[in-house]
Amino acid sequence: MAVTSRLRHVVSSQQFSRALLEDLIARADEIKREPHHFIGRLAGQVMTALFYEPSTRTRLSFEAAMLRLGGATMGTDNAREFSSAAKGETLEDTIRIVSGYADVIVLRHNEEGAARRAAAVSGVPIINAGDGPGQHPTQALLDLYTIRDELGRIDGVHVAMVGDLANGRTVRSLTYLLSKFKDIKIWFVAPAQVAMRDDLKAHLDDHHVPWVETADLDAVLPEVDVVYMTRIQKERFTDLEAYNAVKGVYRIDKDAMSRMRKYAILMHPLPRVDEIAPEVDSDDRAAYFRQARNGLHIRMALLDRLLS
Ligand code: CP
Repeated sequence: MAVTSRLRHVVSSQQFSRALLEDLIARADEIKREPHHFIGRLAGQVMTALFYEPSTRTRLSFEAAMLRLGGATMGTDNAREFSSAAKGETLEDTIRIVSGYADVIVLRHNEEGAARRAAAVSGVPIINAGDGPGQHPTQALLDLYTIRDELGRIDGVHVAMVGDLANGRTVRSLTYLLSKFKDIKIWFVAPAQVAMRDDLKAHLDDHHVPWVETADLDAVLPEVDVVYMTRIQKERFTDLEAYNAVKGVYRIDKDAMSRMRKYAILMHPLPRVDEIAPEVDSDDRAAYFRQARNGLHIRMALLDRLLS
């Protein structure tokens, strides 16, 4: 089925229809299977990676995706220091300038809503690569792709979102995407200090997606198909005492894995700190490195759909 949904900027997960998600997943499958079909697809096009916050996976997988499609890349790490933001230039002016040089801008910023502000003034597509505690929609695309890849389905999956849910933009974006599928159930597992925000729970209610809120991870582990661990994000806390009160609250080790279902998977957007013990890495259900690898294929699919 041809998907005609228009996609210009990628700012939030709510923009994606189920049909569009299925199209991107099918395209990523094709890229994985027959990468030679996509060589040179974006020849002559330029991607700028404008990153105001640190990144390993998002920045480098976007760059690799663009290069593998035949395009070129340029950009700046630590744009707060190395771009003219350091001289007081506004984000809007920077985007106006860069959109005259590039065909697409991949933007990571520390402020929630930055990608939407950038899209409002940009002459070329903006891709939100994480805006503070707001959203990270392309991480959610690779997460969704990983669930389908590992479990063979998305409909009917039961997912535990674990950790820093108040600041977790990947959890927010993935939850919005999952709400477009059938028979989903979500457990939000977090200490009260970093519980999921009410707007997302209201969204699930509006879309008739059942959810449970608890702090008891041990009780949830045997119930779910996917355990989605996240890091407590020290950089989002203004008060070190508040961070210390919740850091290390959940840890998946061999003992915790023994409580998970035999076919369930353990995911993490990475980077991890101490919430998944390295002893777990060799368990077949530890999907997080395969998940990160999937970022390349789904970002190739997204760039191809936006620019070809
Ligand atoms: N998952 C993720 O966004 O990782 P990076 O911060 O390394 O890009």
